[in-house]
Amino acid sequence: MSQPRRSPHDSYETETTDHQTETETILLKHLPLSPDLPSPLQKDAHLQFLIRNLIQGFPSRYTSQDASQPWLLYWTLQSFSVMGVALDPDNKQKAIDTIMAWQHPDGGFGGGPGQAAHLLPTYAAVCALAIVGRPGPGGGWDQIDREKMYEFFMSIKLSDGAFLVAHHAEVDVRGTYCLLVTAHLLNMLTPELLEGVPAFIMSCQTYEGGFSSASQPYFSPEPEGPPTLLDSPRPPLGEAHGGYTFCSLASWTMLQPYLALQKPSLQRSSLNFKTLLRWLVQMQGSEIELGGFKGRTNKLVDGCYSWWVGGCFALLSSLGIIGAHGRDDNHESSTTHQEDEAWDDIDDSLWDRAALQRYILCAAQHPAGGLRDKPPKPADSYHTLYCLAGLSSAQHNVFLSSTRQDVIVRSWKTPPESMHERLRQACFSHSLSWTEEEGTSRILGAQNNRMNATHPVFNLTMTHTEGIMAHFYKQTIPS
Ligand code: FPP
Ligand code: ZN
Repeated sequence: MSQPRRSPHDSYETETTDHQTETETILLKHLPLSPDLPSPLQKDAHLQFLIRNLIQGFPSRYTSQDASQPWLLYWTLQSFSVMGVALDPDNKQKAIDTIMAWQHPDGGFGGGPGQAAHLLPTYAAVCALAIVGRPGPGGGWDQIDREKMYEFFMSIKLSDGAFLVAHHAEVDVRGTYCLLVTAHLLNMLTPELLEGVPAFIMSCQTYEGGFSSASQPYFSPEPEGPPTLLDSPRPPLGEAHGGYTFCSLASWTMLQPYLALQKPSLQRSSLNFKTLLRWLVQMQGSEIELGGFKGRTNKLVDGCYSWWVGGCFALLSSLGIIGAHGRDDNHESSTTHQEDEAWDDIDDSLWDRAALQRYILCAAQHPAGGLRDKPPKPADSYHTLYCLAGLSSAQHNVFLSSTRQDVIVRSWKTPPESMHERLRQACFSHSLSWTEEEGTSRILGAQNNRMNATHPVFNLTMTHTEGIMAHFYKQTIPS
C-alpha cells in the first residue's frame, strides 16, 4: 500500500504534529482532479449565506460578540462588494440608520447602540458607511462627527506613539491600523496624530520577522509622579502573527507620505524587511496544504490568512521591497501572449497565487454556502470576507502607481504651505494611486470566479474608496 503524502517532520509526535497530519489528510481529499480546474465559486450560495447570517445576527450563546455588530455588517457588505453585488436603496438606508445608532456622543463608534467608542468598531462602521453611505441629510457621511472623533483619537494616544483601543483599554496594533484607515478615509490626518506612530510600529516586529500585537511601553506609568523612561528599543510583546503583521505593514504603508515629509535626519530606521519577507513566504502552506496560508509558525493553514498574509505581498511591492508588479508605461496587453508576459513579470517564486486560489475554492468554500477556515469547520461571515478578499488579491495585481500619484499632485492649483496641508495632500494622493494593470489579472478556473479588486490597505473597492475620500477631502480638517 502506498504511503499517504504528508509534510516532512521529525519523528517526535506531539499534539501539533497530530493536528497537522489530520489537516493534511482532510485537505488532500479536497485536491481538484486537475490543478487548473478548481471547484467553481458558488457566488449565489455565499450571498444567501451572508444574508441569512446578517438577519439571524449572533446566536444568543455568542453574547460576547455583541460588540461586533459593525464588524458583521462590514464583513457582509464588503463581501457583497468584492462579489460585485450592490444593495438596493431601501436596504442601504436601513444599513446607514443602523450604523449611525452606533456613533458615540463623544466621538467614534461602539460595537452596538450605547456602547463605548472603540477603534475596531469605528473602522468597521466607517468602512461600512463608505460602502452604503452618501452625502447629505440621512446619508450617514455628513452625520459622522469628525471633530469629536478626532478628539477621541487624541484622547487615547500615548506619548510613545501607541494608541489604546478605547478608554481604559489595552494597546493593540490592530487599533493603530483601524485609526489610520479611518483618519485617511475621513481626512483627519495631522502631524500631531501621527507623531511617534512609526516608532511604535517598528517596535512590534519580532525576531521571526512578523509582528506581534504590541510592544512594551516606552514609558512605565507610576502611581505618583512622572512616568519612568524605560530602555529603548521596546521589546515586542508576544508572538508574530499574520493578523498583526497585516495591520503593522498596512499602517507602515499608510505612514509613507508622513515619513517622506519628515526631515531626512529623522528617517533613521525602518522595518526589517528581510526577516519580514522570509517569514511571510514561510507562512504559505505546501501543496499538501493546497497553498493556503497559516497565521503563525507551527500552526495550521486557515482561509482568513489568505488576506491577512497573502495581502501583505501587494504592500511589500508598493514599498519597493519585492519586484513592482505594475508598470507605469503604456504597454499593450490585449493579447493572450502579452498577458502571459505581464503575468511572468510577477515574482511567482515568492508566493503561489494559483495555489492560494485553489485552497480558497476547493477547501474554504462550504458546500452549503459561505467560506471557512478549513474543512470540516462551519462557514462564518468573517472567513467569508477574508477568503474572498484573499481570492481577489491573488487574482489581481493592484500596485501603487507613481504616474497616477503625479497626476493627482499636479492637479492641485496652489502648492501647499503648512506641513499639515502637505501631509493631507500627500496621504490623499498616496491612497488613491493604487491601480490595476490592465489585462494582468489571472483567474483560476471559470471567469465567474473573478472577484472585484480591493484596495490593498483599506479592503474596500477602489470605487468606494474614491467616493468617500473625495467627499471628505473637501471638508475642513479637525483642529
Ligand atoms: C489567533 O487566533 C488570533 C490572533 C492572535 C489575532 C488575529 C488578528 C487578526 C486576524 C487581525 C484582525 C484585524 C483587524 C483590523 C481587527 P487562533 O489561535 O485561533 O488562530 P491561529 O492558530 O491561526 O493563530
Ligand atoms: Zn481564520
